[in-house]
Amino acid sequence: MFNDHLARGARGRVRAAFATAAAAGLAVAAALTFTNNAQAADTLGASAAESGRYFGAAVVPNHLGESGYVDTLNAEFNSIVAENVMKWDATEPNRGQFNFSGGDQLVAHAQANGMEVRGHTLVWHAQQPGWVQGLTGDDLRQAMLDHIAGVAGHYAGDISSWDVVNEAFEWDGSRRQSNLQQQLGDGWIEEAFWAADQADPNAKLCYNDYGTDAINAKSTAIYDMVADFLARGVPIDCVGFQSHLSTGADLSTYQANLQRFADLGVDVEITELDVGGSGSAQAEVYRTVTEACMAVDRCTGITVWGITDKYSWRSDETPLLFDGDYQKKEAYSAVLAALN
Ligand code: XIL
Repeated sequence: MFNDHLARGARGRVRAAFATAAAAGLAVAAALTFTNNAQAADTLGASAAESGRYFGAAVVPNHLGESGYVDTLNAEFNSIVAENVMKWDATEPNRGQFNFSGGDQLVAHAQANGMEVRGHTLVWHAQQPGWVQGLTGDDLRQAMLDHIAGVAGHYAGDISSWDVVNEAFEWDGSRRQSNLQQQLGDGWIEEAFWAADQADPNAKLCYNDYGTDAINAKSTAIYDMVADFLARGVPIDCVGFQSHLSTGADLSTYQANLQRFADLGVDVEITELDVGGSGSAQAEVYRTVTEACMAVDRCTGITVWGITDKYSWRSDETPLLFDGDYQKKEAYSAVLAALN
């Protein structure tokens, strides 16, 4: 049913703007009701939707029974990503036996509430099930391809963009020496993208990584890979910038870095934003990142890596927009202002 709302992207891939487009339409209509000028929306999702973007959160299905958690999610966000339940260890705990229970719960919640779903992540060196870790050569290759077909195939039509490959580069721009790299050689990343394209022709296909918040050796290596993929017709649509940050982060080239990828011809997404710190210093980092995305036409949205500090993977660093009581922090106000 979502396909009715999809528009064709530049390279023929359907760009999944369904929930965003619908929400943007509502926001525009609401704005017109009140004023001839743009009406500032008062939630993250509605504010992002005014410029056709999404604002999402990483979600854990087990917390959906907590009213503060689910109420904040539903009020503020128009996109969901699974913090863990769509990873390889969760979805294929034994070879060929898939478990989609957690992911299906998230997709159902998103669809019932008009939200998009990002897919995270098909292939990664971490959170692999034990049975994958012992595989070698073509056996590992076949396991990777079967995993992509199984998971991306199951969710085909439900996912706006997939993180097909996660964290495959080192800081110095070399390939990370994972089992995938060592067993399969340099071609494994594009093999994964081809398999994802076959399993879900409608989702946008992203490469996702951290430490890419500046023009540096790592982001440049990824930039070169994307340029090469585009030149050779390997199906890639987007690059995810995780943006796990702290108040000391040097963001002087953050926007320029997003822009150079956009100029290559891919969308860019802020996929796992969180900022260790507190108060104004934390708020300023959030503001800078949000303004950078807003300034880059092809920055399609921002996902924060959790809703409340109390459940964050970096809980000690209080990196999110809502405190442990679901109260809005200064960082929240900075993001909302930047979106508007
Ligand atoms: C993290 C989750 O937040 C944790 O709950 C889990 O224990 C480990 O993984 N980069 C990624 C995410 O791409 O999948 C990671 O998520 C954080 C770093």
